[in-house]
Amino acid sequence: MKKATDMWSMFGGLRQESLFFKVYPELTDKVTNVRMGKVECPSCNQLKKDAWVYEKDGQEHWESVWPKCGDCEKNVVSTHVTQQMKQKHEKVIENDWYFLSETDAAGFKNFEEHNKSASVAKSKAKDFTKKLIDGEQMNLLVMGIPGTGKSHLSKAIARTLKHEGKTVAFITAAHLFTKIKATFNNQPARDRFNEQFQKFDLVVIDDVGLETKKISEVSWSTSEWTDLLNMREGKSTVWTTNFDEIALGQVIGNRTVSRMYENTMFIDIFTGEDYRKTKMRK
Ligand SMILES: Nc1ncnc2c1ncn2[C@@H]1O[C@H](COP(=O)(O)OP(=O)(O)O)[C@@H](O)[C@H]1O
Ligand SMILES: [Mg+2]
Ligand SMILES: [Zn+2]
Repeated sequence: MKKATDMWSMFGGLRQESLFFKVYPELTDKVTNVRMGKVECPSCNQLKKDAWVYEKDGQEHWESVWPKCGDCEKNVVSTHVTQQMKQKHEKVIENDWYFLSETDAAGFKNFEEHNKSASVAKSKAKDFTKKLIDGEQMNLLVMGIPGTGKSHLSKAIARTLKHEGKTVAFITAAHLFTKIKATFNNQPARDRFNEQFQKFDLVVIDDVGLETKKISEVSWSTSEWTDLLNMREGKSTVWTTNFDEIALGQVIGNRTVSRMYENTMFIDIFTGEDYRKTKMRK
């Protein structure tokens, strides 16, 4: 046992020393001169980490229960807190863009293949989803008359990709334009909107063409659509619409429509054989 050579050892040292031998009983007979000291922290490389320093076989050794010094441990905690806050912040942003309720059950599983058209649409939607899961970038335009399952399929896509960890927005075109209008005369808000809009791995815009009911707003919304498409460059977007190509062109502009065909898969859902024959596509 170590001789009591100073005040520290006399009052605290013995306690420290007996604790040391409790933790490292195998060293009891081999070690002399146990003291608390500071050793190099592997994280900041400074002599700041608490350790037991002792002599064994005439050489100095140390043991420490702490992987890092106190300051570095604190940084780990604060980095963790920062990350949590960042995740929370992203969650808030996403909630503001993901209007798909937990109770809405629309998925691939309950999308019935009640006719050829529905069956082709489902298989294309699944292909599209798989491509995105594999990291490909691609767009999807879903056309068809009301009630044919366009929203249902796009919800299935959104939900599946979200489940795979992708960042996903699901919003109607009408709501999207309400958001844009809310940023009028507020450039910082618009910048924030833009930054969020372009970041999502996937944005689903449901019911394109229904955002503008006033004819006086058509030219404004047409130029907004150009901006929106530019912002999604390099990312994936799904559009659904009840309109055919011609009607859509009149509302959102022919240039926007032709941009929507770039790097884009196409689903046309229809109900009857006759409709299909008149609307055959590649
Ligand atoms: N193939 C299908 N299988 C199961 N449900 C469907 C199918 N097609 C449409 N539906 C259901 O019919 C309703 C209308 O479909 P929806 O996707 O909203 O149509 P759209 O967006 O084309 O107007 C929804 O409740 C949807 O779940
Ligand atoms: Mg719909
Ligand atoms: Zn450190």
